[in-house]
Amino acid sequence: MGFKLAISGKGGVGKSTVAAMFAHLAAADGARVLAIDADPDANLAAALGMPAAERRKIVPLAERRALIEQRTGAKVKQYGQVFKLNPDVADIAEKESARFRDVHLLVLGAIESGGSGCACPESVLLRALLMDVVLHKDDWVILDFEAGLEHLGRATAQGVDLMLIVVEPGRRAVETAAAVRRLSNEVGIRHVAVLGNKLASDEDRVFLEHALAGEDYLGGLPFSEIIHRADREDVPLVDAADAELLGQFRVLWERVKERLTC
Ligand SMILES: Nc1ncnc2c1ncn2[C@@H]1O[C@H](COP(=O)(O)OP(=O)(O)O)[C@@H](O)[C@H]1O
Ligand SMILES: [Mg+2]
Repeated sequence: MGFKLAISGKGGVGKSTVAAMFAHLAAADGARVLAIDADPDANLAAALGMPAAERRKIVPLAERRALIEQRTGAKVKQYGQVFKLNPDVADIAEKESARFRDVHLLVLGAIESGGSGCACPESVLLRALLMDVVLHKDDWVILDFEAGLEHLGRATAQGVDLMLIVVEPGRRAVETAAAVRRLSNEVGIRHVAVLGNKLASDEDRVFLEHALAGEDYLGGLPFSEIIHRADREDVPLVDAADAELLGQFRVLWERVKERLTC
């Protein structure tokens, strides 16, 4: 069974950057990789380095009205309906994913109304899909979540091998990390670890080591001009990264894999 890695943290800390690099590294390890963008503020396709023309063609699953209605037996945006709580989703990851190099990508998208955990057909479909890929698919799954962990039910959480929380050296990112840690415990995720990003100085390193005392802290990535430039110029970071930066991602990826296998 492939490993299931979830990544979360405050907006802008680098979740998608890390998820994308780990997805490419996992694929280089020879795994069949399914990356899932479960952040309503979706940017994993860009972080993977998928060209803009291809990104524009992706329609998030939450907006696939015909598919949602067909699978749940309910109309989107109509209230008081009875619909299938266990829609058939087994073929969706295969059929509806985009692909960039060796990484398969599913973009879930944002659910418009009802708030988190609403019983609208869109939400039912996305939750069922996550449960299916986490509990029943052999792929390596890398989930890029927003801090609220929407769509992650208890049953699915049981199948997540590691919740990796990304933080940057700042009070707000650390507070969000604590909130994600509590949520992860509540839903029953077995292992939670933290990864630092955008460290610009020794003070940043010391700050995070103190702020994260008691957490399984895997270490940090530097603030990197290469990462910044790759984003600005819209080139795949996996190509732009030099040996030093790739080495830093690899070291952390190895630490993640140690947690995934224990
Ligand atoms: N280590 C880093 N050094 C410099 N810029 C970074 C680093 N990590 C991420 N970024 C940049 O920060 C921004 C937010 O990163 P992103 O991965 O999209 O965050 P998130 O998915 O958490 O919202 C992007 O412009 C990205 O290129
Ligand atoms: Mg993101």
